[in-house]
Amino acid sequence: MKPASSPDELLRIEGIRKTFPGVVALDSVDFDLRRGEVHVLLGENGAGKSTLIKMLSGAYTPDAGRITVGGEQVRIHGAQDAERLGIATIYQEFNLVPDLTVAENIFLGRQPRRFGLIDRRTMERDAEALLARVGVQVSPRARVRELGIARLQMVEIAKALSLDARVLIMDEPTAVLTSEEVEKLFAIVRALREDGVGVVFITHHLEEIAALGDRVTVIRDGRSVGQVPASTPEDELVRLMVGRSIEQQYPRERPDTGDALLKVEGLTRDGVFHDVSFEVRAGEVVGIAGLVGAGRTEVARAVFGADPYDRGSVEVAGARLPRHDVNAAMSAGVGLVPEDRKGQGLVLDQSVEENLGLVTLRAATHGGFVDRKGQHTAAERIAGQLGVRMSGLGQHVRTLSGGNQQKVVIGKWLLADIRVLILDEPTRGIDVGAKVEIYQLVNELTAAGHAVLMISSDLPEVLGMSDRVLVMAQGRLAGELSADDATQDSVMALAVSSPTTLKEEGSRDH
Ligand SMILES: Nc1ncnc2c1ncn2[C@@H]1O[C@H](COP(=O)(O)OP(=O)(O)OP(=O)(O)O)[C@@H](O)[C@H]1O
Ligand SMILES: [Mg+2]
Repeated sequence: MKPASSPDELLRIEGIRKTFPGVVALDSVDFDLRRGEVHVLLGENGAGKSTLIKMLSGAYTPDAGRITVGGEQVRIHGAQDAERLGIATIYQEFNLVPDLTVAENIFLGRQPRRFGLIDRRTMERDAEALLARVGVQVSPRARVRELGIARLQMVEIAKALSLDARVLIMDEPTAVLTSEEVEKLFAIVRALREDGVGVVFITHHLEEIAALGDRVTVIRDGRSVGQVPASTPEDELVRLMVGRSIEQQYPRERPDTGDALLKVEGLTRDGVFHDVSFEVRAGEVVGIAGLVGAGRTEVARAVFGADPYDRGSVEVAGARLPRHDVNAAMSAGVGLVPEDRKGQGLVLDQSVEENLGLVTLRAATHGGFVDRKGQHTAAERIAGQLGVRMSGLGQHVRTLSGGNQQKVVIGKWLLADIRVLILDEPTRGIDVGAKVEIYQLVNELTAAGHAVLMISSDLPEVLGMSDRVLVMAQGRLAGELSADDATQDSVMALAVSSPTTLKEEGSRDH
């Protein structure tokens, strides 16, 4: 029997199914959305969340099942159908055109015209009003390529507002935001909810569910397995999502540490980072915390040789690395899992196996022959350990879910023969269960005497997994905390310290 639809119902999905060659992405999903609610979609990497919302945005059409909007069955073929129905989507990968301006992106395909020409003045004025409603300071004339991720997202929201959307779908909007930006986003979402907009919200950050959500639909292996209030305790949500409970979220096992494997001294890139010195010993996990823009990624890239630096030195196991030379760094056993994985970490049109083998290829080549069997076995093992959800090792990485793509990049470096692994935001977009698997692999690395440098904006992760925490602020090391002294408060106090206090500290050293 069908439940009676409430007068507040915006849309309803019943028994939706979607398959791709070799993959049942959605088996049978039920879902409904009401006016003025935030409905969270929760599920492991590859459970089918993004696929589900793509049925609503018109990117995919279902193989079976029904979608009703305002009580009437609809077909959503393409973005225009979705737009007509008042459904706006902000994807996991943004959809803006980098070379157009903010205003042009907001009104793409719908620019106001005057005497047949695009009326730039009206367009920019309207864009300005929308941006003000979202509360973001950005010029309508700025090019989208110049904007950081948080602002891109605000522009996407402004665009949704311009469409007068009644349904706003957000696929992991907070994955790339700082905590301050998250608060701002939440304020906007709450205001939209007040206006009666229905919001579909996907996140892997469980604490956001109670903070923002009203109801939660849990998806497991392409099926909706439950609908619960957002106030449901986190461990219960985890149990619904992964089908078991997770005892320990941060299972750090601290081995005895050895000599310094990585030694960075006085590293400076003028205008970017200054006088950064630290070391990471064999067996250690050193975390780097800080606000976005503090220079953490830039330091990591310079250490790995991906970017140049002006002064200072980088040593691995006592041997100095040449500046700006990735090959030399890799030969010395340094690996980097980059923050921007799609851009720098993956070859999207190659298979999972090929991507996993990218770094080990050299080691697997014996006298000109590639040890394909060895590579295959290794790829199978690591994909299994990380729980990469795929139709097989031959699946193209492009068609993996967001979180599973990330697992492949991390797996690639875990397979490589490395002594120093630098992880930049290692678990962004990764579900809670898979996070624990990654932490276990970090434990294995350090138990084997390797060193790990971990940049993360996820403070609980930094605190839970690091043996020492370095905090960067405005391009400088603002301080170092032992695992025992590192708390949310002590880290944040250093992260927001001003450059003048830092300069005073620095001058004392001279
Ligand atoms: N175009 C495609 N071709 C083949 N398989 C696909 C395609 N799109 C999605 N899939 C598969 O469908 C399944 C569900 O993927 P989906 O992206 O919906 O997961 P998700 O729940 O959003 O995961 P994540 O949390 O990692 O983003 C995955 O196994 C994925 O590999
Ligand atoms: Mg997804």
